[in-house]
Amino acid sequence: PYEQSLRPQLLKQYIGQDKIKHNLEIFIEAAKMRSESLDHCLLYGPPGLGKTTLASVIANEMDVQIRMTSGPAIERPGDLAAIVSSLEPGDVLFIDEIHRLNRSIEEVLYPAMEDFCLDIVVGKGPAARSVRLDLPPFTLIGATTRAGSLSAPLRDRFGVLLRLDYYDEYALTSIVERSAELFNASIDYESAGEIARRSRGTPRIANRLLKRVRDYAQVRGNGHISLNLATEALELLQVDPRGLDHIDHKLLMAMIERFRGGPVGLDTIAASIGEESTTIEDVYEPYLLQIGFIQRSPRGRIVTPSAYEHLGMPLPIERND
Ligand code: ADE
Repeated sequence: PYEQSLRPQLLKQYIGQDKIKHNLEIFIEAAKMRSESLDHCLLYGPPGLGKTTLASVIANEMDVQIRMTSGPAIERPGDLAAIVSSLEPGDVLFIDEIHRLNRSIEEVLYPAMEDFCLDIVVGKGPAARSVRLDLPPFTLIGATTRAGSLSAPLRDRFGVLLRLDYYDEYALTSIVERSAELFNASIDYESAGEIARRSRGTPRIANRLLKRVRDYAQVRGNGHISLNLATEALELLQVDPRGLDHIDHKLLMAMIERFRGGPVGLDTIAASIGEESTTIEDVYEPYLLQIGFIQRSPRGRIVTPSAYEHLGMPLPIERND
């Protein structure tokens, strides 16, 4: 309930992602005017940008219930059948990490999305037969960090494709100020901005840093979050002025010191710092690419001169070997 209270309930309380909001306002109003369920929506983009929040905002705006599940949680067709057959007309079914859905489940999902019906096999062996189950019209909202991993037939069945982008400093500052108000924490604009700049364009990180900075201000100060206290706390948390944490540093330094800044393959980097390739690809790399600290090339990832400069490292000497 504490975490939940930070989440905006309505589109007009949702800060940032303006293009998405403007589009959704229209699609939602049109669906309501026609008394129809909203078309299926696919939300994609890096983690922590508010895909789950947006799904519950959509359900709220449509005045319907939301059922939440995730790709890996749906193991058998029966699991999906149990969920969709319990929906009320117009309800939202939210599937997080939809790219991790089993192919066998996907097949069951197609007719559910397209014709609101399920073909399920009941019984085993010679007694097995297929039964068709009619479903109430519903809205599937799928969320994924990797739209490219969705099968084309699944992707094609979404009528609304929404790509969430990193938040700019101003939107994130507003989010920090709003969250501080909801926690009854006193913060000035400069401190909110400092937290925002160190949050990698990501509200989830901004809210987490705000909580830790608030702890620090309470114990080391008088509770008010001043710029000095915020900066001290963020240094202690090992979050640098661009929002890079110790794993980003480890990753960039390994590329610089062991691979002369690249090009180096993703799996090689992952093995050398002991992280999963998918974690690097989905969580760390997108922001480093966004701020231009690494680049992708056909031969692997490359550390850019701005990253060397940020880390205070000398550029490698050009060699032609
Ligand atoms: N909290 C987390 N994300 C938010 C957003 N986009 N708008 C308002 N509050 C938020």
